[in-house]
Amino acid sequence: MADGAIVYLLSLLMVCSEALTAVIQTQQTVLAAVGEDAEFSCQLLDTKDVLQVTWQKISRDVETNVATYNKYFGQRVNDGFTDKVKFKYTGLQNCSIVIRNVTEQDEGCYRCLFNTYPEGAFTGRTCLRVYELHEPVLDVRESNSTEEWVVSCSATGRPAPTVTLSVSQQHLSFSQYNTVSVSNTNATFTVTTTAVLSGSRKHSTQVGCAARVLSAPHREVMETIPDDGSGDGDDDDDDDDDGLDEDFGSKRRNLAIRISVILSSVLLVAFSCVAALIFVHHRTKSHNRNLKINKTSETKIRDSQETEASLFTAEGSEVRNEGAFERNHQDNNLMFSSEAAGRLNFEQC
Ligand SMILES: *[C@@H]1O[C@H](CO)[C@@H](O)[C@H](O)[C@H]1NC(C)=O
Ligand SMILES: *[C@@H]1O[C@H](CO)[C@@H](O)[C@H](O)[C@H]1NC(C)=O
Ligand SMILES: *[C@@H]1O[C@H](CO)[C@@H](O)[C@H](O)[C@H]1NC(C)=O
Ligand SMILES: *[C@@H]1O[C@H](CO)[C@@H](O)[C@H](O)[C@H]1NC(C)=O
Repeated sequence: MADGAIVYLLSLLMVCSEALTAVIQTQQTVLAAVGEDAEFSCQLLDTKDVLQVTWQKISRDVETNVATYNKYFGQRVNDGFTDKVKFKYTGLQNCSIVIRNVTEQDEGCYRCLFNTYPEGAFTGRTCLRVYELHEPVLDVRESNSTEEWVVSCSATGRPAPTVTLSVSQQHLSFSQYNTVSVSNTNATFTVTTTAVLSGSRKHSTQVGCAARVLSAPHREVMETIPDDGSGDGDDDDDDDDDGLDEDFGSKRRNLAIRISVILSSVLLVAFSCVAALIFVHHRTKSHNRNLKINKTSETKIRDSQETEASLFTAEGSEVRNEGAFERNHQDNNLMFSSEAAGRLNFEQC
């Protein structure tokens, strides 16, 4: 009901304003951030005999001519505005200017006048609203109680910005809101909103802070809070310890495997040498025995070959390998110290 009344009033106002400015199309308000450029444009909708388009600035009810575009003399920007204003589009029916690098001083209303003959001037009016909005500064601190974070966000702007906190997870909520606004010497305000974020976080959470001024685009910053491992501190500790043990254990296993591989290689080389020696020894023997094949030497070779096979399968266990090596020594009645084997291995490398 109240809304209906407001809509009715608004439409009435619009009809009235339309009646007043029907022939000129322009923006009512232009919003620009400090340092930006602002553009005003006026279009005379009815075709008239326009002699000149004049742009004026109205401040404290005083009109100052800013720039003109004349049918015969072209465009001209008046003194005091030459660095500030330039024409963007020049035409006698359609004309636009740009106010460069706007500051607070440029705020106010501007008029465009289409000077016609014989009807006189048709005027349009646009107001410039200059705002300032700096990127908000977001701070998220762990509070001394678990599952609670103190979120603080501060934004500077003119007029005083509104600061809104948000969180990406629905089951988390802000409480104990506190907002403080401090006015700075340059007419800006620094607004700081602080709130407590509570609830357990299963995943990492994004906390956002948006700063708004008038209807200008808002500025937002985000911060990610890592997940708290579902909130059970003791479990976390246990997990960490397990992780450490596992890491250490696997390191130890790796070392053991490496040692046994090295030892096995050494033993294998030593054994091959022994086998080769035996083979050569027997070959010489058989030669000496006029190429008579000795049955016992054959069995010995077979024995040693079997031991080699068992050595391969028992690679994992150092003790058993060493045992096999010892047995091999005894079987072949050859004194071969492991040091000699090591040397042999080294010489082969
Ligand atoms: C008038 O200018 C506006 C913007 O500067 C443009 O969009 C429009 O088409 C122009 N109209 C004419 C008739 O030139
Ligand atoms: C914009 O205006 C400010 C204040 O007048 C000045 O300090 C700054 O240098 C200007 N920037 C540009 C790009 O002209
Ligand atoms: C944190 O600790 C301070 C004093 O050390 C205490 O005053 C405050 O209430 C505590 N806040 C919470 C949320 O426990
Ligand atoms: C105004 O003051 C605030 C706070 O001192 C500062 O952050 C901001 O940059 C200033 N703005 C201008 C246009 O100097």
